[in-house]
Amino acid sequence: MTTPQLDPQLHHVLDWIDRTRPNRLAVIMDPNTEKHCLPVVSPLLPPHTDFLRLSEAGEGVKRIEHAHALWSSLDEAGYDRNSAIIGLGGGTVTDLSAFVASTYLRGVDFWLIPTTLLAMVDAAAGGKTGINLGGAKNRIGTFAHPTGISLCPEFLATLPQRQLLSGLAEHVKHILLAHSLPEWPQRMEALPALDGPIEPEDFAELIRQSVDIKEGIVRQDVEETNGIRKQLNLGHTAGHAIESWAMAEGLELLHGEAVAWGLGVELAISAGRMAPDAPAAAAMLALRSTLETQFPCPVSVPPPEALWAWARMDKKNDAEAVRMVLLSENGDPLVDQAVSLEEFSAACGA
Ligand SMILES: NC(=O)c1ccc[n+]([C@@H]2O[C@H](COP(=O)([O-])OP(=O)(O)OC[C@H]3O[C@@H](n4cnc5c(N)ncnc54)[C@H](O)[C@@H]3O)[C@@H](O)[C@H]2O)c1
Ligand SMILES: [Zn+2]
Repeated sequence: MTTPQLDPQLHHVLDWIDRTRPNRLAVIMDPNTEKHCLPVVSPLLPPHTDFLRLSEAGEGVKRIEHAHALWSSLDEAGYDRNSAIIGLGGGTVTDLSAFVASTYLRGVDFWLIPTTLLAMVDAAAGGKTGINLGGAKNRIGTFAHPTGISLCPEFLATLPQRQLLSGLAEHVKHILLAHSLPEWPQRMEALPALDGPIEPEDFAELIRQSVDIKEGIVRQDVEETNGIRKQLNLGHTAGHAIESWAMAEGLELLHGEAVAWGLGVELAISAGRMAPDAPAAAAMLALRSTLETQFPCPVSVPPPEALWAWARMDKKNDAEAVRMVLLSENGDPLVDQAVSLEEFSAACGA
């Protein structure tokens, strides 16, 4: 496993290149990271570095066509097992770059430089790579660990506010998993305000906390064999359902926006399983309304039945049941909880 490290000057990347002297080195980026992030990185790299720019940005990057184009570029340029790849971008670029690097010649050395808050707090860490298949997310992928992950909060200065909020939603998920229920309100209040110019260095501590929480969980279940890692799916069964539905409808819904909505639904289902006067139920419903205010869902939510069809397709489910991560009265995660359409509908309308 690779521990992501705060690396504001990108010294760790340079040390790695100096130490390993790869035969060839490619940077994979999208048009936005080429514009905003490459100018910081490129002066530090060896003169013969190849820059492979994807033709689009966003979720569409995670398609086999892009992976194929990258494999072909590497092959035509004569990349071998002593070559290396840097993924420079948000979670879509780090997922794709890591997938391409882990499959080309059965795996070449790679390093990730996440440039969105979501990729810094979540996507780049944990060793999962992936691309989408049709409308379904992350159907194809590998477990593969980069040699290093450099966290450079400076990149957040150019990130649109909506993208910052999306990343913050994954951080909230980590807070819920790591902290006891009475601590939640205080932790939510401590989140940085995003209206107005942001100070990237204000995010360094938050990123470090999130990465520590995720790493602590992943270390106990690196390749998802004993169930512990499943707790990181909190908010994601309902979240992926609305994300996949929105993708099919051609609506723009960011991953973190979908996760924030999914966290609210899964909190409401958890509360619905408790006695109505249980203090934990009240705390969970209160947090749900905080989430609705702080992370408003930008699309109008369709009837629960429309989302249920997508929830059933989630790769975590078997043919019969939709399984979610719910929370106990202590706020502890309970994985693999079978949820009915009735419960889901009640929570969507709650
Ligand atoms: N592998 C994992 O464990 C894991 C975990 C969580 C999420 N993910 C994946 O992460 C993806 C979402 O990642 P994301 O939210 O970073 O999306 P993204 O990669 O699409 O980035 C969001 C947008 O910001 C732009 N951008 C990136 N850095 C920028 C910068 N510094 N300044 C200005 N613009 C910038 C991008 O070009 C894009 O338009 C999803 O596909 C999700 O499935 C993977
Ligand atoms: Zn996620």
